Amino acid sequence: MAFGTETVYGLGGDATNGAAVAAIFAAKGRPAFNPLICHYPSGENAFLDAVADTRAMALAEKFWPGPLTLILPRRAESKVHELACAGLATIAVRVPAAGIAHALLAQVDRPIAAPSANISGHVSPSMAAHVMEDLAGKIAAVLDCGPAQVGIESTVLDLSGAVPVLLRPGGVGIAELASVIGDIAMPDADSAVISPGMLASHYAPSLPVRLAAVAVGADEMLLAFGPALNGAAGVFDLSARGDLTEAAQNLFAGLRVLDAEGARIGARGIAVMAVPEDGLGIAINDRLQRAAHPRG
Ligand code: TXA
Ligand code: MG
Repeated sequence: MAFGTETVYGLGGDATNGAAVAAIFAAKGRPAFNPLICHYPSGENAFLDAVADTRAMALAEKFWPGPLTLILPRRAESKVHELACAGLATIAVRVPAAGIAHALLAQVDRPIAAPSANISGHVSPSMAAHVMEDLAGKIAAVLDCGPAQVGIESTVLDLSGAVPVLLRPGGVGIAELASVIGDIAMPDADSAVISPGMLASHYAPSLPVRLAAVAVGADEMLLAFGPALNGAAGVFDLSARGDLTEAAQNLFAGLRVLDAEGARIGARGIAVMAVPEDGLGIAINDRLQRAAHPRG
C-alpha cells in the first residue's frame, strides 16, 4: 500500500516478509539489486535492526523524525528480509515526520520497506494522484495524506564506514548534518555501486529536459524559478518569489504537469531555469540533473 510521508509518497510493505518486498519491486519495475529504505516509528525501533554508533545517535536525536536516511551495519538478528537490503551487509533506516505515516508505522509495529511510489526511474510522487498515475492497477491502495510538505526525498547518509558519505542530497541540508558530525565526504565514482539507486538517469519525464535555460523556445515547456522567462508554450513556476522550500515542494508536480501538457500539445522538451546551488537547492539540482541526463 502506498502512503504519504513528509518527503514523497512511499510504496510500503512488511520489510520482514519476502513476498511483500518482492511485490514492491514488481509493482515499480525496480531492479532487485537496488535496496529499499526501512521505515520506523522511532529511533529505538530503527536501531533494533541497525547498529548505531555515536554519530548515528547524535543525528537521530537532532533530525528524527524527519527527512534523513542513515545507512548503517545491519544487525545479525534483524528480521528484515534480505531482498529489502539487496543482500548487502548494511541497512537503510529512516523515521518519517509525525503525521499519518508515523501513526501507520506505530500501528503496524514492524519495519516497513518503502521506496518512492513511482515506476522505477520515473518522476517521484508528491501527491496521491501522482501515485495513481504510475501505479493504478498494480498496487492495493494509496492512503491520501495530502501534498508532501518537503517534496523531495530524504537525504541519504552512509555511516557504515569511518568517513560519513553523502549518497543522496535531500530534505536535510549537508551543512546541518556537518554541524552535528563534522566533515562529510561526497560520493566518488564507486558510490554508484555502493548505493545502487544513484543512477545518472532518474526522475525522468518522457520529454527531454534542458537545464540552466536563459531563453526559451515557443515549442518548449518552461519550469521556472523566480520570475518566468517569456515565450514558452507552457509554464510551471516552482516559486515565483524564488523560495527554495516552496520550489522543492513543487518540483515533482511541476515536472509531471509540464510533461503531460507538453506531450499533449507536441512540445519539443522542458527547459528549466537555474536554481541556486545552496540549501535545498542542492537536492533540487541533483534531481534536475538526473531528469536531464541522457536515458540509458
Ligand atoms: O524520502 C525518502 O527517502 C522516500 C520515502 C518514501 O521515505 N523513499 C525513497 O526510497 O526515496 P527510494 O527507494 O526511492 O530511494 C532509496 C535510496 C536508493 O538510492 C537506494 O539505492 C539507497 O537509498 N539505499 C537503500 N539501501 C541502501 C544501502 N544499504 N546502501 C546504500 N544505499 C542504499
Ligand atoms: Mg525513488
